[in-house]
Amino acid sequence: MNHQIAKLYQISQKESRIVIGLMSGTSLDGLDIALCEIKNAGRDTKFTLKDFITMDYDDEFRINIRKIFAKKNINQQDLCGINPYVGLVHAQLINKALENWGVKSEDIDLIASHGQTVFHAPQILTKDNSLPNSTLQIGDGDHIAVHTGIITISDFRQKHIATGGEGAPLAAYGDYLLFTDPMENRVLLNIGGISNFTFLPSSSHTLQAFATDLGPGNTIMNQYMFEHYGKEMDEDSEVAKKGNINSSLLNELLSEEFLGLNFPKTTGPELFNLHYLKEKQNLTHTNNLSKEDVMATLNAFSAHAIANGINRITHGLENVVVYVSGGGLHNPLLMQNIQSLLPNIKISSIAEIEMNPDAKEACLFALLANETVAGSPNNVNNIKDSPAVCMGKISLPL
Ligand SMILES: Nc1ncnc2c1ncn2[C@@H]1O[C@H](COP(=O)(O)OP(=O)(O)O)[C@@H](O)[C@H]1O
Ligand SMILES: [Mg+2]
Repeated sequence: MNHQIAKLYQISQKESRIVIGLMSGTSLDGLDIALCEIKNAGRDTKFTLKDFITMDYDDEFRINIRKIFAKKNINQQDLCGINPYVGLVHAQLINKALENWGVKSEDIDLIASHGQTVFHAPQILTKDNSLPNSTLQIGDGDHIAVHTGIITISDFRQKHIATGGEGAPLAAYGDYLLFTDPMENRVLLNIGGISNFTFLPSSSHTLQAFATDLGPGNTIMNQYMFEHYGKEMDEDSEVAKKGNINSSLLNELLSEEFLGLNFPKTTGPELFNLHYLKEKQNLTHTNNLSKEDVMATLNAFSAHAIANGINRITHGLENVVVYVSGGGLHNPLLMQNIQSLLPNIKISSIAEIEMNPDAKEACLFALLANETVAGSPNNVNNIKDSPAVCMGKISLPL
C-alpha cells in the first residue's frame, strides 16, 4: 500500500484528529487559519478550537487575485498561474502560523482548504442553462500538500454541485452537527463578503435545517471604499455613520429579483458590485450623492437584505436567536441597522455559544474534512435541499 494511503487510513481510524481549517473569502482580507481538534464524527463530534489566526494578505496577493476575481473576461495565463500561486502562498502562511504556534507539521493530521473563490456561476445568476451550475475555487491542493507535508483536502464545493446543489453555502453541514439545540430555533448568520445563514430549528421541531445566501454582506461597501478612498473597508463604519440613507436609491437596490427568490439560493460579487450600484444610481438620478450618503445607503442595503431574509424564515416562530459570525459583526452601524429592523429578535455574537466569530467558517471546513475521512453522508442527510455528501479532493504530499 502507498505509505500516504496507509497514513490516511490510520488517520481515519483515530479517535481524535488535529485538522487545520482554511478560509479565504470574497473580502480578500486574509487567510483564516484554524487549528482544530476534532473527536469522533457526525452527531458525536466534539470540537475544540486550539488556536486561530488571520494571516493578512499583502498587496501583491490582492492585485493578483483582482486580475481574475469575479470577472467575466480574464487572461487565461493569469488564471493558470494564479491557481498554483495561491496554493504556494497558502502553504507559506500555514507554515508561518505553525511556527508562531510552536506546532510541528508532523502533528497535523489534515489540512482542509477552501481555496480562493474567483467565480461563482449558478444558473440563476448566469441565466444560461446550456452550462451546469458552477463555481471555481483556486489554490491547488497538491501544492499545499507538497509544501506543508500535510495531507490536504480541498475543492469541497464541486461534489455539492455534482450531486445537485449550487456549491454553496456549505455551512449547513457543520452548523447542523455543532450547533443544533434542543430548545432554541437558531439562525446562524455569517456576514462575509456575501451574507448567508443556516437555519437550525430546535431538535424538537419538525422543520428541517437548511442554509442559504441572502445577498450582500460587506462586498459592495468594500468595493466602494476601495474605489473612492483606496481602503479595504469602512472601518468601524466611520464613513457610513457620517451619511444619510437615500431611500429612493435604497428601494431600487432592494428591487433586485434575487432578493425575492425562494431559499435556498446563492450569489456573489458577480451580481452585487459597483456596476450594480451605478445602474441603480442612474435609475434613481442619485449620481451626485455624497460618498458618505452612498456608504450609509449601502450599509442599510445589506442590513435590509439580511433582516428581510431572517424575517421570512422566523415569521411565526418562537424562541428564535440569531448568532452572528464573520467580519460584518465588527461593523457597528450594520449590526445596529439589522437589530433595528428585527426589534423582537435576540441577536448575539456566535461567541455566546462558544465559537470564535472570525474563525467559524475555517472551523466548518475542518469539520467537513473530518467527515470526508471519518464520517458518512448519513450524518448530514437531514438538511433540506442540500445533498448528503462527503466533500473534497484528497492531495497527498510526496
Ligand atoms: N472593524 C471593522 N469595521 C467594519 N467592517 C469590518 C471590520 N472588521 C471587518 N470588517 C469587514 O469584514 C470583512 C471581512 O469579513 P470576512 O468574514 O473575513 O469575509 P470573507 O469571508 O468574505 O473574507 C472585511 O473586508 C470588512 O468588510
Ligand atoms: Mg475573510
